[in-house]
This record gives sequence, structure tokens and C-alpha cells, in this order.
Amino acid sequence: MSRPVPKSDWHPASWQKLPAAQQASYPDAAALDRAVAELSRMPPLVTSWEVDALKDHVARAQRGEAFVLQGGDCAETFDECTSENIVAKLKILLQMSLVMLYGLKKPVVRVGRMAGQYAKPRSADTETRDGKSLPSFRGDLVNRSPFTSEDRVPDPQLILRGYERAALTLNFVRSLIDGGFADLHHPEYWDLGWVGHSPMADEYHGIVKSISNSLDFLETVSGRELHRTQRADIYAAHEGLHLLYEQSQTRFLDRRDRWYNLTTHFPWIGMRTAAMDGAHIEYFRGIANPMGVKIGPGMTREWLQDLIAVLNPNNEPGRLTLIHRFGAKSIGEHLPDLIAAVRETGSPVLWVCDPMHGNTESTADGTKTRRFENVVSELESAFRIHRAAGSYLGGVHLELTGENVTECTGGARGLTDADLARAYKSTVDPRLNYEQAMEVAMRIAGLHKTD
Ligand code: PEP
Ligand code: CO
Repeated sequence: MSRPVPKSDWHPASWQKLPAAQQASYPDAAALDRAVAELSRMPPLVTSWEVDALKDHVARAQRGEAFVLQGGDCAETFDECTSENIVAKLKILLQMSLVMLYGLKKPVVRVGRMAGQYAKPRSADTETRDGKSLPSFRGDLVNRSPFTSEDRVPDPQLILRGYERAALTLNFVRSLIDGGFADLHHPEYWDLGWVGHSPMADEYHGIVKSISNSLDFLETVSGRELHRTQRADIYAAHEGLHLLYEQSQTRFLDRRDRWYNLTTHFPWIGMRTAAMDGAHIEYFRGIANPMGVKIGPGMTREWLQDLIAVLNPNNEPGRLTLIHRFGAKSIGEHLPDLIAAVRETGSPVLWVCDPMHGNTESTADGTKTRRFENVVSELESAFRIHRAAGSYLGGVHLELTGENVTECTGGARGLTDADLARAYKSTVDPRLNYEQAMEVAMRIAGLHKTD
């Protein structure tokens, strides 16, 4: 595989010389240029201080001193940018992190798939229904989902609408956190309506009580309030797929002498766009953000070693996170060899397990789902394989929602294929609902013993 051009030739648009997978084709080039120019003038969504703080957290997790919880929707939609949805997502991430903090006895770094997760890779450029072919729906950042020619034309204005939704989301999350919503003294703020009816309610409330008691105890012996230091931060992440969007908000910071992507703290690269000689790797190698790379069954040891060499040539701690998503059945076959390949490079990485994307299947009527037992099984295998290899699994990447949807089967309530129709809302991948997500958190924390 050929390596890209040397770093000195890099600039935020240098990827444009290379083949870019998964990009929309906009019919109106002038309108696209105008939208990109407008977005380039807009203020950044995040700051380099925050980005560097997250990189430090990831570095800590690489050393085994923290655990990363990354989660959210498969795709955010503009319609769902509502206060209820944002609060519910924040609550589930906070609750899960509390359970994991308690069980793992390590700080948990929360990273939402949010405030920019608006673009999706597709297996085909077009979709055909009843003999009619139209461009595939690539997410709200690109086009609209109804199956009409008008809706499916990529619209450059949507890049700006996505930026604005991301800003509104981050603004609300920051205000809630600044106002004390994430204060560990008040986990009752995070209770979702149906927590009281959940089969896990007692376990969860027991943990909350125990944490409050510990905080009270610490404050009594130390004689000071732990309020501010115990504030929970939430970082933003999305797949860095739409390169014009990413490029528009990429800034050189003199103070740091580096380029930052300021649309998000943590962009990741999907495997479909991780070709060594492709545009995405060219773009990502030049930015200073901590970043993820998804790795699935098609990843080879050479490809992975090349990715590490190009994306983290100076072996910088906190820089690179590998998010593996093999599926419950295939993880045993692929992961050990890739752990060995990474070790040979001597470069630090954070290993994170995505137990969702390798476990997608269709029911008899064609509904996309995931079985809870496969999600848990891949996660448990991941912990076991890393432990056996003397490696550390330092995080989990989940598709989840704070809502009470029925998109994945199984879990404490034993949802079946027949339940899926009841509250299936995702237009892309099926997400864990609130209870299923909490159950995963309890399994990770080693607290929920059902077998
Ligand atoms: C995703 O994270 O939503 C996704 C598309 O994952 P992957 O590229 O790993 O299939
Ligand atoms: Co997905």
C-alpha cells in the first residue's frame, strides 16, 4: 500500500488531491463553495484546550488509569435536536459512567456520539425502489431521507444547518453542566422517567446511595466541598466522514503551532474510508485532535501498522484510539493478531470495543436489529482477549439512546423480534435502549451478575 505525501505538504484541503470515498456529489458547485466559505468563517464549536484535555484523558486510559465511555445515536437527526433528547442522552451517559466509575474504581471519560454525528457511510451510492434509482440518503448533513428526487439531491445549505444544530446541542450540554446538572452530589437530576420501573432500579439506586455516602465521607475528612472538582465533563465525537465539513472548521493555532479540527473533540475514521492512499487518512494525519479508527474483520496487520505510522508518527500518547468491531463470532479470530501487530509498533494506542456494528442482523421481516446477548458476548470476549494478551481494554463504544425504544432484542426485559415494531425509531442502526444500556454498564462494572 502506498503511503501519502510527506507531512510538510499538508494543509486542510490537501485531501482534495486524493480519492475520497463516501462523499456526496453536489450538482451545484458554486453553491457548495459558498457554503464551505461561510462555514469557514464561523466560530469554532470546541476549543483546543478542550481537545487537548481529552487527549490527556485518552493518554491516561491508554496507561490503564481511566476508562472511556463513548455512546450515542448511530446518526443524529436535525428533527431530534430537542431539549428532551439531549437531556436524555446526557442522563444515560452520566448514569452509565457513574455505575462504571463505581465498579471499575477508575475515572470514566464520557464522549457522546453527538453534536455532529450527521453524516453516514452507505454501502451503495444509489438506492432503488420499484425500479426508480435515487442517490442514497447520506445523513442530514448531506440530503433528506424521503425517497423523492428533490429530497435526495445533496444540498450544501445542510452543512450549515448541521453546524448550527451541533452548536445548539453543545451550548445546551455546556449550560446544563455549568449549572450543576452533572454534579455527582445530585445524581437524582439524571433519573429518567422509567428508572423506577426498571428491573435494575434497585441496583442503580444502591450505587447512587453508596457514591453519595462516599462523597459525604470524603468531604467530612478533607473539610472541603468536592463540588467543582467532581464535575463531569462530556466530550463530543462524530465520524469525520464529510471532509468539506471537517476542513471548513480546521484552524491553525499559533499558540500550539498545530492544526485542530474544531467541529468536535474526537473525530473518528470508519474502516470504509481508511484506505492508506485515500483522502480521509490524508486529512486526519494533519490535525492535532485525538482520533479513533474503526477496525473490523477486513483489517490486516500491515494495514494497521501503516495507519499507526501515518496517523501517529511521533508515538504521541492520547493521539490514537482503535475501536474494534468484529462481531461476537469473529472477535476471537481477529483481535489477538492485531493486538500483537500493534505491540510490534511500540506506539501507544487506546483499545476500545464497539460491540454493536459487527452484530447487526435482520429479522424474518427484514427489520435491522442486534441481539443483546451478542453485544454482551463480544464485550466479554474483548475483555478476556485483551487480558490474556497483557493488553488493556480501555473503553467501549455503543449506539444507545436515553429513550425507551425497542430496536435491539434481549436484555433484562427479554425483548423479542415481535417487540421491535412497538417503538422502533432509528432510521439507521438499532440502538440499545435505556435499560439495555444500563445493563451493559453494570456488566462492564462487574456488578450485574445474572449468570
Ligand atoms: C457507525 O459507527 O455508525 C458505523 C457506521 O460504524 P462502522 O463504520 O464501524 O460500521
Ligand atoms: Co451505526
